[in-house]
Amino acid sequence: MDKLRIEGGTPLNGDIWISGAKNAALPIIASTLLAETPMTISNVPHLQDVTTSMELLAQMGVKLTVDDKMNIHADASSVSCFNAPYELVKTMRASILVLGPLLARFGEATVSLPGGCAIGSRPVNLHINGLRKMGAEINVESGFIQAKAKKLKGTVLNLDLVTVTGTENLMMAATLAEGQTVIENAAREPEVVDLAECLIKMGAKISGAGTSQIIIEGVENLSGCDYKVMPDRIETGTFLVGAAMTGGKVKAKNTRTDLLDAVLIKLKEAGAKITLGEDWIELDMQGKRPIAVDIHTAPYPAFPTDMQAQFTALNAVADGVAIITETIFENRFMHVNEMQRMGANIKLEGNTAIVKGCQNLKAAPVMATDLRASASLVLIALVAEGSTLVDRIYHIDRGYERIEEKMNQLGAKITRERSRR
Ligand code: EPU
Repeated sequence: MDKLRIEGGTPLNGDIWISGAKNAALPIIASTLLAETPMTISNVPHLQDVTTSMELLAQMGVKLTVDDKMNIHADASSVSCFNAPYELVKTMRASILVLGPLLARFGEATVSLPGGCAIGSRPVNLHINGLRKMGAEINVESGFIQAKAKKLKGTVLNLDLVTVTGTENLMMAATLAEGQTVIENAAREPEVVDLAECLIKMGAKISGAGTSQIIIEGVENLSGCDYKVMPDRIETGTFLVGAAMTGGKVKAKNTRTDLLDAVLIKLKEAGAKITLGEDWIELDMQGKRPIAVDIHTAPYPAFPTDMQAQFTALNAVADGVAIITETIFENRFMHVNEMQRMGANIKLEGNTAIVKGCQNLKAAPVMATDLRASASLVLIALVAEGSTLVDRIYHIDRGYERIEEKMNQLGAKITRERSRR
């Protein structure tokens, strides 16, 4: 397994180009299953999860090619297999996103249950219940979701909890259902909006994406289109936190400035000077140590759970005490134990972490446990004294494009130690 070695002590300074959003690219890749003619997706990040999605679709019969600019050309005009096997789903939970499209267009789907994961139990009951309410017959047996429906029927779906991929799955299914579907308590995440815009370009009739009520009028069929994936707001936030923690100055380019309000407010509270351009955000920490900031995660537009670990790292080196409350996933504090190995002063109480910042963190061997936790370990290692070795970085490769190259462009000293296997 590859590892990252990080020499602490250099501030991040310079410009960085933000990649396409993983959590928008994955549902959009799944949506190609709905199109009867070929389509092209651009600004796709080069990530392990994207490769896994392509493998998944390819084994269903979708013809996929990637050109030198990482544009994905997908032709789902003939699909011969409607299964998502355990081997792929277990490596990427977002595989569940093929369930809605397969069922809506082909009337059948067999998708492995994703199972638990490092950050929480993450059930998919709301995806299943919604599709059942649309008329699908679904059996969950021997670890698989087996779904059938002659034609899905539009209905009102009241989601008990805000679920991002649940909203996406049901919205995709509804595009080809008979009549109108209303999703109440829908997720308002920008990635849901990006998917809706792609589906609309494919011929779907969707209104209200970005609000908690999405209305979909079913159509007979969808066709391919050219679609550019939105920039990654979490990658943007991660680099800005890196600059804030190291007292540096970073301009995140090719990003969206309107999607990170909750994060930028916290960075300003931490003492950063933030400047916004048309498609860039600059953070200047002017060599200062950040001030501790309390964090409370919640669905968009509130503070994203996907930035919680990075702000735990920031608070671990900040001036003061911060209270971090995680309300989305029950086990998303695995990075805390690793940070404690570097000397961080963090106390966990249920879904709350009390972080007292300190200035003398020391490098230690640490282990990445999930995607955002690994990013937070890279960030904290930038500030610790000495050389930190982060193990199991396959997690980070699932969601950050060439993280060490990008960090090094900004002055970090990170090397990848490749495993011999
Ligand atoms: N939930 C249920 N039942 C369901 C679905 C969700 O109880 O059927 C619960 C979950 O257990 C969780 C909460 O609802 O407690 C919210 O989960 P959600 O369904 O919104 O999460 P997700 O769709 O599985 C996406 C992102 C995650 C991100 C969350 C929250 C993708 C591919 N994944 O997951 O991204 O943390 O939304 O914003 O879009 C990451 O990128 O590191 C990542 C984990």
